[in-house]
Amino acid sequence: MAHALIAGWGYLGSYAGSLLARAGHRVTGMRRSRPDVSLPAGISLIQADLLSDRTLPLPDDITWVIYAVGADRFTPEAYRAAYVEGLKRLADALIQKRIPVERFCFVSSTSVYPQQDGEWVDESSPVCGRHFGSATLIEAEQVVSSLPWKNTAARCGGIYGPGRTRLIDAVRSGQARQVRHPKLILNLIHRDDAAGALIHLLNHPSPPPICNLTDLEPIDRNELLCWVAAELGMPAPPWEEETSLSEPARGGNRRVSSRLLQLLGFTHRWPTFREGYRALIQPSHGANAPCTEGTDQE
Ligand SMILES: NC(=O)c1ccc[n+]([C@@H]2O[C@H](COP(=O)([O-])OP(=O)(O)OC[C@H]3O[C@@H](n4cnc5c(N)ncnc54)[C@H](OP(=O)(O)O)[C@@H]3O)[C@@H](O)[C@H]2O)c1
Repeated sequence: MAHALIAGWGYLGSYAGSLLARAGHRVTGMRRSRPDVSLPAGISLIQADLLSDRTLPLPDDITWVIYAVGADRFTPEAYRAAYVEGLKRLADALIQKRIPVERFCFVSSTSVYPQQDGEWVDESSPVCGRHFGSATLIEAEQVVSSLPWKNTAARCGGIYGPGRTRLIDAVRSGQARQVRHPKLILNLIHRDDAAGALIHLLNHPSPPPICNLTDLEPIDRNELLCWVAAELGMPAPPWEEETSLSEPARGGNRRVSSRLLQLLGFTHRWPTFREGYRALIQPSHGANAPCTEGTDQE
């Protein structure tokens, strides 16, 4: 059994941690704030700041690491701190203390793909920093590739799930708007599948250096809004002439393939938005209890 460190005990990290604990692994989570709920057996939480704490109180028998730290704000400084500096500080501490890490999984994002013509992209497609967010993640992926363990940069699509129902809430409240330009394709993944896929990668005998974590069906944002409205028994959301979505929130116009994840033997529990969103709209379809609040954007 492994001892997993989850740096960034947030929406995704804490769910991955709970799955690992359920599978019998020891789990140590790390974040700056106190735990707000009591933790299940097998899980301990370190309250530490990866950036400012002089020494990180790391257990000396960590074998697996998931780095799922998120930036506090959408600024170049906050992104550099969360994705590059925090990552380097943790890696340095693990190396200096000679902690016997075997596997390291860094949660990156599909935002590193710059393509805008609706094409399919996979792990071999070119990446580039269209804005500081993706540029910083690409830099962090390069740091990860140089670490002395079996590493994977897991490029995660927009996470939705219990407690992350922003798009459904926007439709329900009448705030959602369809946008004419640009065309927006969402590459989504349910929280359960994102966490399950991270664990699948940690367990895999030959983890790839890069792996996309998305579901099987990228979806046009307007189509998704209309589909959600229909499920809620509401009319299609109105059109907005000028988009107010910022570029990073827009995501882009490309379809991110999860073929590699499937070839590695992973089976999605929520293969498309239809199953995943329907379970959130109508909880009798199998959604879990809410976890934490947040966004569901790529
Ligand atoms: N959400 C999405 O749709 C999405 C899509 C693609 C990729 N991702 C990536 O997936 C990762 C996890 O996302 P998430 O939605 O689970 O984020 P989240 O809920 O915001 O969790 C991030 C965690 O990092 C902790 N953290 C932040 N700064 C820290 C520091 N200096 N030291 C220690 N802990 C720190 C936060 O806790 P404290 O504030 O208590 O420290 C929080 O628990 C992020 O890297 C995100 O960029 C997310």
